[in-house]
Amino acid sequence: MNQYPFYIAGKETTNKKLIEARSVYSDEIFAHYSLAESKDIDDALAQGHAAKKIMQQLKAHQKRQILEECRDLFRKNSEDLAEIITLESGKTINEARAEMQRVISVFDYASIEVMQMNGTVLSMDTHPSSEDFECLIKRFPKGLCSFITPFNFPINLIAHKVAPAIAAGCPFIIKPSDKTPICALKFAEILQQSSLPKEAFSVVPCTIEDSLKLVTDPRANFLSFTGSEQVGWKLKTLAERKSVCLELGGTASCVVYPDTDLELAAKEIVNAAFAQAGQSCISLQKLYIHEDIIDKLSSLLVELTSKIKLGNPLDPSTDLGPIINKDSLSRITKLVDHSISTGAKILVGGTTQGKFFEATILTNIKSDDPIRDEEVFAPIFIIDTFSNTDELFKQLNQSCYGIHVGIYSKDINIATKAWDELEYTAIIIGHTPSWRSDKMPYGGIKNSGCGREGISYAIEEMTELKSLIIKK
Ligand code: SIN
Repeated sequence: MNQYPFYIAGKETTNKKLIEARSVYSDEIFAHYSLAESKDIDDALAQGHAAKKIMQQLKAHQKRQILEECRDLFRKNSEDLAEIITLESGKTINEARAEMQRVISVFDYASIEVMQMNGTVLSMDTHPSSEDFECLIKRFPKGLCSFITPFNFPINLIAHKVAPAIAAGCPFIIKPSDKTPICALKFAEILQQSSLPKEAFSVVPCTIEDSLKLVTDPRANFLSFTGSEQVGWKLKTLAERKSVCLELGGTASCVVYPDTDLELAAKEIVNAAFAQAGQSCISLQKLYIHEDIIDKLSSLLVELTSKIKLGNPLDPSTDLGPIINKDSLSRITKLVDHSISTGAKILVGGTTQGKFFEATILTNIKSDDPIRDEEVFAPIFIIDTFSNTDELFKQLNQSCYGIHVGIYSKDINIATKAWDELEYTAIIIGHTPSWRSDKMPYGGIKNSGCGREGISYAIEEMTELKSLIIKK
């Protein structure tokens, strides 16, 4: 049985009390690990703080080499890591393999981005008072970063913080989700094999109480959190004046107009709603179908959804994995039961099967039903019809979330109107809200968060502009 250490400034460390890591699907123990304690977190903060200079002094070509080494190591180990992702998070092996491909791209993008971090020169001869001056501007690392990461993309959402931090020249401490610590410890093994200075990284599975030091301690300069809305905004207040990036939830909506290839859209919608068992911030939750195509598209969706195969996520023929744990399953069940008790109609699914929640489509949802406005984080979506674009856009803007929205329409006027009017950070025309490129700016407004990920945007978050003014 594998026993995984945690890492303090690159050094393998273990505490006495061992914890079992179990497969979400089978409950079998597949590894052991121990938690970093309060003294270890202090140590990580002290050594991470001391490593700021080492990281700042790394040259672009050295950082590129580290990023390329990580990319190649992730590629070499991707099958092994995909299996761990599946065991620990319950997502299917195909989804885990896709996640590993994204991790490789994230490091690849960062290795390219780090070679393009040029400064600028600002003309100062625009006013007589400054005409004798030159102004040069460059980005400098903010310093030690605290990263708190979730279970749903247990390696890629760490990669989205770590790769830009290396490019930016920042040391970092990762506190992974308590549901997926082994994925993070595997990630640390890769970092350890690269030429990243050992002092630059710590990976510390720990209690929530101990992790708060990473948020409040002044030696940590930047906090990036991906997870629930309630926790994220609370952490932001605790972080006080620190700069903070929050990637939180949403109730991603998708709109379908009649000028759409309905068969293709149905496949993409089903995938967008049920991949990762719906446990993604941009998982499709609300579908608005134009009244002219409601019957046709609904029946295509029901047909495809009925074929979804639940099963062992390690089996490549499985489409839908289990829900991460009992608490989530009971939260989801309550939400759906409430909808049904207030008149919702189940088109397909609607209940649990052991550790699974069936792929579910609901309709006839009341306007004040929480299933509309709470992030369900489950393989469920609801269907509404619409006929008027202005009214629909008004309704979409009433959401307290603002991350992705998908619109199937070939009408350029709808696309530009959506871009102008919708209060979301990405409008995806011709696909679902769950579409994401790892390169694009990613993150929400309103309750969905603040700051952006996506390699070059995360580098901006982790760096500070600094000017050099020279009198000639
Ligand atoms: C998330 O759930 O925040 C990430 C979604 C993705 O990267 O596809």
